[in-house]
Amino acid sequence: MSLREDAPSLAVVGVTGAVGQEFLSVLSDRSFPYSSIKMLASKRSAGKRFTFEDKEYIIEELSADSFSGVDIALFSAGASISKKFGPIAVDFGSIVVDDSSAFRMDEDVPLVIPEVNPEALSHIKLGSGKGALIANPNCSTIICLMAATPLHQRAKLAASGAGAAAMEELEQQTREVLEGKQPTCEIFKQQNNMNVKVTATCIRVPVMRAHAESVNLQFEEPLDEDTARTILSNAPGVVVIDDRTSHRFPTPLAVSNKDEVAVGRIRRDVSLDGNYGLDLFVCSDQIRKGAALNAIQIAEMLL
Ligand SMILES: NC(=O)c1ccc[n+]([C@@H]2O[C@H](COP(=O)([O-])OP(=O)(O)OC[C@H]3O[C@@H](n4cnc5c(N)ncnc54)[C@H](OP(=O)(O)O)[C@@H]3O)[C@@H](O)[C@H]2O)c1
Repeated sequence: MSLREDAPSLAVVGVTGAVGQEFLSVLSDRSFPYSSIKMLASKRSAGKRFTFEDKEYIIEELSADSFSGVDIALFSAGASISKKFGPIAVDFGSIVVDDSSAFRMDEDVPLVIPEVNPEALSHIKLGSGKGALIANPNCSTIICLMAATPLHQRAKLAASGAGAAAMEELEQQTREVLEGKQPTCEIFKQQNNMNVKVTATCIRVPVMRAHAESVNLQFEEPLDEDTARTILSNAPGVVVIDDRTSHRFPTPLAVSNKDEVAVGRIRRDVSLDGNYGLDLFVCSDQIRKGAALNAIQIAEMLL
């Protein structure tokens, strides 16, 4: 039980949904301190009662008046709801952690994975009275970057190998392409964004939870399989499951309801000379680390 008078007041927007329910589980599992929680959803759910941590709550309909006195608002009711009500919450002084795609491409909104770029939050202070928006990256992106970042820190992933100015140009090209504009090509000789042809068949597979991703990484500096395995074994929030003898690798079931991102099938990319490429198989619960857990880790950093 983490109900405390001196703790921040919370709102959960979309509390009846898959991510909203997971917010409550993660708050409870991590004993996140709160003084009150507003349980918000649509008109359809307003008035329904439920118990959370021994206290009865009544779901309220989300409205423009919902955020008075709310310190931290956790949003997971879809992008259109976030676009409409996120700025309203900020005007009330709430810090919004948003799980939708609404603000991910907004350059003024920090896009944060606590294990990857915690520094992006340094200017946001709880209790300052000033509201702010913080975006959770897409669930597939979070899961992939949890594995890729520790390896990047050692051997530099090739996309950033061309330096900071090139990374900025890649970001600029991404915005321009999404806005339908001609991309700037000063450092890259041609459009580098969305310029890979991929042919794929995407299907929903019958598992209840978790995303599985086959990831190919190319590096500026050599990185062999064993070193990568050691780096990943020591990375926060990552667990290595890579036992070729007994055929134990990451699976959706093994990571369901778990916090960690599991990495396995770590092998050299034999299509490249030397140790400049790695293939990985990454699996994680997208409702947990891909959504609710990541958002609550962000909120924890504000405490
Ligand atoms: N599921 C995932 O794996 C996942 C992962 C990462 C991010 N996300 C993002 O999280 C968000 C929610 O996803 P979800 O899977 O949790 O969806 P969901 O299970 O369908 O839940 C949607 C929630 O939004 C509420 N809602 C819908 N219309 C509303 C309105 N007009 N006003 C207030 N509340 C409203 C619903 O309330 P009612 O019950 O009252 O309709 C429900 O609580 C989406 O933006 C999604 O992209 C999802």
